[in-house]
Amino acid sequence: MSMLEPIVPHLKSLHVTMLLIWCAGLFALPLMLARHDPAIGQADYARIRKATHYAYTFFITPAAVIAIGSGTGLIFVRGVFVTWLFAKLVFVAALVGFHVWVGYVLVDKAERQGVHKTPHPTLPLFLLTLPITGILFLVLAKPDLGQIPLPDWLQQPLGNQLPFDVPRR
Ligand code: HEM
Repeated sequence: MSMLEPIVPHLKSLHVTMLLIWCAGLFALPLMLARHDPAIGQADYARIRKATHYAYTFFITPAAVIAIGSGTGLIFVRGVFVTWLFAKLVFVAALVGFHVWVGYVLVDKAERQGVHKTPHPTLPLFLLTLPITGILFLVLAKPDLGQIPLPDWLQQPLGNQLPFDVPRR
């Protein structure tokens, strides 16, 4: 048992709280972007634009960073160097890709001149459910994927030096 075992419940509740905010935000943002329609009038347009921007930069992106940071901590504290975890990370990469895409649409809409049509939210929201369902299945069922061969370096920490020099002051 690791010395850090007592912090697992705290780290895990931080992880779950932050990923709830992150995933809820990923569902909300495409819907908010779809409301970026000049037809709603100048004042409402300014309001939705500001709300989307602030939600993305001050809540949803920090929640994503903390969810990923606490998840990374959990890997080492719990010592889960197992296949379902790596499969989960592939889906997490898809979520990060979705997050970046939302950011791109936001900046494109807000900062570049010209008329931009925001994407209809149905397809993005449908696509978003796929990695989230995949992640929840993997992390809750923790299926034994042991038959799938993995290279040794994925199965345990190797204690290697970083391949580059870390600047020191
Ligand atoms: C880079 C990102 C992530 C990493 C490294 C990570 C890693 C981990 C680890 C190591 C655990 C503990 C597993 C255990 O105790 O056996 C965990 C728990 C959990 N993760 Fe993540 N995770 C990440 C992102 C996510 C996301 C995006 C979701 C959901 C959409 C998610 C959902 C959960 C849930 C529900 C648990 C608690 C399940 C349980 O232990 O019973 N994680 N995560």
